[in-house]
Amino acid sequence: MLEDLSRRSFAKLASLAAAIAAAPARAEEAQPDPARGHLATGSFPSGFIWGTATSAYQIEGAVAEDGRGRSIWDTFSHQPGHIADGTTADRADDHYHRYKEDVALIRELGAKAYRFSIAWPRVFPEGVGAANPKGLDFYDRLLDELLANGIEPYATLYHWDLPQALQDRFGGWQSTETSKAFADYAAYVAQRLTDRVKTIFTVNEVGRFVTFGYGLGIDAPGLKLPPKQLNQVRHNVALAHGLAVQAIRAHGRAGTKVGPAENIAACVPAIDTRENARAAEIATRELNAGFLNVVLEGKYTDGFLAYAGANAPTYTEDELKIIGSKNDFIGLNIYAPQFYVLASERAPGFSILPFPKSFPHMSADWLRIGPETAYWVPRLAAKVWNVETIYISENGASSADEVRPDGKVYDLDRIMYLRAYLTQLQRAIAEGAPVRGYFLWSLMDNFEWIYGFGKRFGLYHVDFETLGRRPKLSASFYRNVIARNAVDV
Ligand code: NOJ
Repeated sequence: MLEDLSRRSFAKLASLAAAIAAAPARAEEAQPDPARGHLATGSFPSGFIWGTATSAYQIEGAVAEDGRGRSIWDTFSHQPGHIADGTTADRADDHYHRYKEDVALIRELGAKAYRFSIAWPRVFPEGVGAANPKGLDFYDRLLDELLANGIEPYATLYHWDLPQALQDRFGGWQSTETSKAFADYAAYVAQRLTDRVKTIFTVNEVGRFVTFGYGLGIDAPGLKLPPKQLNQVRHNVALAHGLAVQAIRAHGRAGTKVGPAENIAACVPAIDTRENARAAEIATRELNAGFLNVVLEGKYTDGFLAYAGANAPTYTEDELKIIGSKNDFIGLNIYAPQFYVLASERAPGFSILPFPKSFPHMSADWLRIGPETAYWVPRLAAKVWNVETIYISENGASSADEVRPDGKVYDLDRIMYLRAYLTQLQRAIAEGAPVRGYFLWSLMDNFEWIYGFGKRFGLYHVDFETLGRRPKLSASFYRNVIARNAVDV
């Protein structure tokens, strides 16, 4: 489906040859960074940040405790037919009560960083208005526990759990009222937590939750809006991001770092030539035009506007300025290659190739295995947008994990995937890509949205009956990578 969409965009974009060909180059060719040139094969720079990642709705449980309001995912998961195994995240990993045990798991890996998300409906049960007096207490406890264990917290403000009240009152992200409410929530969190949280991700995977939640009806809130309204939703989210960046700068401690965590449309040259690499740059900009590009350039591309035509979002120049507020970094969630491209003589300069049916994937069939994605995507993003700091805010894999009679989980395919991706990431960094940290998704098995508990991504296996956690073999793999700061021997 995504391929179809992009083929159609490509056809439309073809008329924009002149405009794009005339566009000024945005950055020089990526040059090896002399400071990093000495990296031994397989080694990461000293001070590289190794972490793991989770999100609130997927792990916390305790959905009705301490004044938490409902979120659109509570509503959606309780409606029959939405979640493959019929589950909800009412209990999930019960992390809300077991966070100390879970922080100990992070510590056992030797990871020095942890990316988690704050549940907006815990903080503002109605989305706007009075804050819940107990709303941040859990995160206060979590932060203190992390810091006591030498683990640096990285907080995400929005990992899809929109307060249901905002959906009911304003149509959620269909209204800029929600963008403004998000800015107020960001300001409140910044004021209260930036004594301990130094890095904040605003919104997670706009490319997923907008399209799947508001366009295809697959994710919460399950809407199928027509293209114009869908583009407006995405625009309102971009505005929310920009407003939040400003709110965090205004209300957080000086020096707090802020940026998005995006499932960038991952473009990869099908064959490594300079021409195809250039084509992948053009594709990276155009196929991310609806969010990342407007955030990083402060404008929609000509190609995006031409393709959208009458369906383009309505916006003001002032909004574009807010959306384009400077970020301190970008977070890239990198899983699967999305678009293999070749250079094309026809505008806009790239063609997208279809995937053969035999292309390998992990246990989730969307999760195609293309390790070179971890090389090309950071390299291309740094070049196209002149970005100085990149975090890999997520990377990981689902496996059909089984606890064997000896009590162990031998997730060799996850290790294969991680080793291959990390090797390619190291190659990108050795050549100068400014990647400062890596957050492995996920610390432990959890509620994988529409798949329920059926797709496991954790380094730790969770028994969803007893809620017992046990390390998989991949936890040892990752511990070894972290300890040696290297992916080979
Ligand atoms: C991206 C999302 O941010 C996360 O919530 C999800 O569980 C992983 N990908 C795996 O699908």
